[in-house]
Amino acid sequence: MTKQPAQRAADAAGGATGDSDGWHELAVANPTFLLERLGSECTDLQGLRELTVNGLDAIDAQSPVAGGRIVWDVDWLRFDASGGRVRKLSVTDTGTGMTAEPLYRYINQLASSSREQSAAGNFGVGAKVAAGSRNPHGLEYRSWHQGHGALVCFKRHPDGRWGLEPQRWPDGHTDYWRPLSEADKPWMLRAQDHGTQVVLLGEHERHDTTQAPESVTDARRHWITRYLNARFLHLPSQVEVVVRERSARQEPGHLQRVHGEQHHLERHAHAAGVVQLSDALARWWVLDDDHRARRREATFWASTGHAAAVYGAELYDVLPQTRGGYGRLQDFGIRFGYERAVLHIQPRVQAGRLGCNTARTLLLLDHEPLPWARWGEEFTAAMPDEIRQLQERAATADGVPRQEAIRQRVSAIMPLYRLSRYRPNTTAAATRHRVGCQWSRRWACRSDQGARHPAGRRIGARTRGRGAGPLRVRERARARRRRRPLRL
Ligand SMILES: Nc1ncnc2c1ncn2[C@@H]1O[C@H](COP(=O)(O)OP(=O)(O)O)[C@@H](O)[C@H]1O
Ligand SMILES: [Mg+2]
Repeated sequence: MTKQPAQRAADAAGGATGDSDGWHELAVANPTFLLERLGSECTDLQGLRELTVNGLDAIDAQSPVAGGRIVWDVDWLRFDASGGRVRKLSVTDTGTGMTAEPLYRYINQLASSSREQSAAGNFGVGAKVAAGSRNPHGLEYRSWHQGHGALVCFKRHPDGRWGLEPQRWPDGHTDYWRPLSEADKPWMLRAQDHGTQVVLLGEHERHDTTQAPESVTDARRHWITRYLNARFLHLPSQVEVVVRERSARQEPGHLQRVHGEQHHLERHAHAAGVVQLSDALARWWVLDDDHRARRREATFWASTGHAAAVYGAELYDVLPQTRGGYGRLQDFGIRFGYERAVLHIQPRVQAGRLGCNTARTLLLLDHEPLPWARWGEEFTAAMPDEIRQLQERAATADGVPRQEAIRQRVSAIMPLYRLSRYRPNTTAAATRHRVGCQWSRRWACRSDQGARHPAGRRIGARTRGRGAGPLRVRERARARRRRRPLRL
């Protein structure tokens, strides 16, 4: 039988006798440090994933066939009670729900999970770490199981300790939880006797957690939909995951279903296929050429070219375009038209060789980063005809022959290579001298006055005037007049 944490702590403090077999199990002396340490490894949006997966698991445990609903919405009860001033984001699921005791056991203990705990499944640190660490003002769990409702609030004490905030009961006493009535249910759980709502209270009382965190730079209005679509390849069809989007006037708008990326790829791809790599399957899609429509949709899903790794039903290692996303496609031999190519690499290796880090930000193969470079070479060697044709077409803009298209592209970037402050150097000796010699700076200046290098070499004209000295101003002015832009 598992001991209560308080009992374990008392055992540890009082020189306990340990478990029944005399074994003294490892305990965590400073759980707050551990939570914050693990939390610092998560991205700001990781909590969206953890809370959604908790809802999916709870629905699967409640009704695997009938399914259920997960709704990301404003906590309307709080919103109404505050006269519309307090806006907190919440996620509600129609899963099993929890009573007070499981709430204590699973929400207030790290590495504690009612689901199968494994390298591939739950770590028991999910939402508490990823969402908890971003909401020091509290993660409020309101849960109903067999008609009984209970509330706990996992938060950071002003002195820095994480734990459950004491709750005042109607009779005046306090406990780690308090009962909830029918009137406390969010709209989605009315007429249901099970389900959970988690409210994200953010960093302080007035923090509007329905707004995207500052680290989100793109698609801020649809940040939850955009993140979930990019994170999940697909979601179980029997579970409806919906998000309340913001309207253009920043008011809460309508509910929008999230399907995961595959749904969108299938609607927008005009060719698709699979390439077998030595230890992975590379699924590829060529997206349609309606750039304008896809640009509009980019606020909801990753609608331009990218390469990602697949693990279970989730996508890992998705690089944004601005951080080398297109570069990775080029490493896969897709040098033109890459904004329309999507690659999903699904490693096919023995169980146990593939796993993700605790923060679920990275996928690791044999504890190392994924072998993107090798996969890129293998894919290039087996390039599908459709992607080859995409590249041919992309390289010939409006019927311009390929060589001409390449020339146009190169001439577009040529100005970046123009070095306006230098002329081509015709004296190789001077270059060698400047690069390789410790005397260069000093002697370059003195050479204006006829000085010589200790090795007896003359200083080249290009190096003249680079050091400090009285002749420099005149020399520089003359050099500036002579200077021409470098023509390549
Ligand atoms: N919405 C929920 N409905 C039912 N049980 C939940 C819910 N959220 C969390 N739990 C329980 O709390 C446990 C801890 O959740 P979490 O902190 O996310 O860690 P993990 O999911 O990695 O186990 C879950 O394994 C589950 O047993
Ligand atoms: Mg979880």
